[in-house]
Amino acid sequence: MTSTMGRNLVVTTFGESAGKYVGAVIDGLPAGLPVSEEDIRFELSFRKTGRRLVSGRREDDIPEIVSGVYRGRTTGAPVAVIVKNKDSQPVLYQEVSHKPRPGHADLAFIMKYGRENWDFVGGGRSSARETLSRVIAGTFARKLLLMVNTEVAAYLKSVGEISDEGSTDFQGAVDSRKFPTRASSPEMDRKFSELIERLFQEGESTGGIVEIMARGVPHGLGDPVFWKIKATLASALMSLPAATGFEYGLGFGASRMLGSQASDSIVLDEGKGLALERNLSGGILGGITTGMDLVVRCAFKPTSSIRKPARTVDLDTMKPDIISVTGRHDPVVAVRGVSVAESMVALVLADYAMHEGLIPPSRIREEDAVRIEERWKGFMKRFAP
Ligand SMILES: Cc1cc2nc3c(=O)[nH]c(=O)nc-3n(C[C@H](O)[C@H](O)[C@H](O)COP(=O)(O)O)c2cc1C
Repeated sequence: MTSTMGRNLVVTTFGESAGKYVGAVIDGLPAGLPVSEEDIRFELSFRKTGRRLVSGRREDDIPEIVSGVYRGRTTGAPVAVIVKNKDSQPVLYQEVSHKPRPGHADLAFIMKYGRENWDFVGGGRSSARETLSRVIAGTFARKLLLMVNTEVAAYLKSVGEISDEGSTDFQGAVDSRKFPTRASSPEMDRKFSELIERLFQEGESTGGIVEIMARGVPHGLGDPVFWKIKATLASALMSLPAATGFEYGLGFGASRMLGSQASDSIVLDEGKGLALERNLSGGILGGITTGMDLVVRCAFKPTSSIRKPARTVDLDTMKPDIISVTGRHDPVVAVRGVSVAESMVALVLADYAMHEGLIPPSRIREEDAVRIEERWKGFMKRFAP
């Protein structure tokens, strides 16, 4: 089992739902990047549990940087960050210990690693608690990307049958940080909230789509064959628990269009030079970024742990049985999926920008560090709770 991603910015995540700590090791960072526990805590606050509309697990999510940062700047050594688990409550998982949950990773883990090695408490390693590590690493990636003036933002595009059909732009995605559901407007936030609350009362769940955008993406990220950036973005987003689909630009919709409808004119844009008129390919052509906004989407399935009874097999008796999963669960994982998906895209872009030499491998210059910190502080101030 390996848990590492990236070529230049190499991230390893560790920790289980009910382990002592979860965290990340981020290797390959240049020295001189300004970063603090407060920065990471700020990012983690957007994937937090224990609030309305999401899992009721009560965690402080206080990050501790244990290596690789000295006087608020990276040293170039591997950075390790840990977060203590405080509210795992193993008692809630006694029934799961012998009745694998349909739709969760339980059955596949038992088949692959053996029932005797299966950490069933909260899903062990397949728990979405692991995604906290990705947001930790994503904080570093976001700050690195400011070096090349690239920003990443995402919002919740749909929940079940309710879809945001407005034309949300990058700023709309940034502003979704104001809303608990990460919708792009107060109206969509209200609609999503009503549906999620109803599902919660009914012991049901549903899926959703997250749209992730990036502005200021340098052109030329990605190689034409196996390291196409669309392939790495798909891999990064599809590595998320409960992710069932990836699209960029026109996505699956393109399969129903005529060539003339899907073709995007090449135009001379004042100021920008050569550009694509409508950016229908979501900022990627031939697996390489075009310098236009990146637009990708990730679909999440409905949460499998629901109170509505489902059929399973009791592993102790090997007889058919029923399970109704209680405990703390997200009725719609896509809500917290927004900040996690955003982090994954930031990690891929930072890794590719490092590969192209746009982010220096060894050292960030003082003037760049000051510029990064100024922008970051302004961003944090806008969305401070
Ligand atoms: C942010 C986030 C939160 C999640 N919360 C839950 C949850 O509360 N309960 C649950 O059963 N699954 C939850 N999941 C999904 C499971 O972790 C996932 O379905 C499981 O690991 C099986 O993997 P698969 O769905 O990719 O096959 C969550 C996923 C994400 C991304």
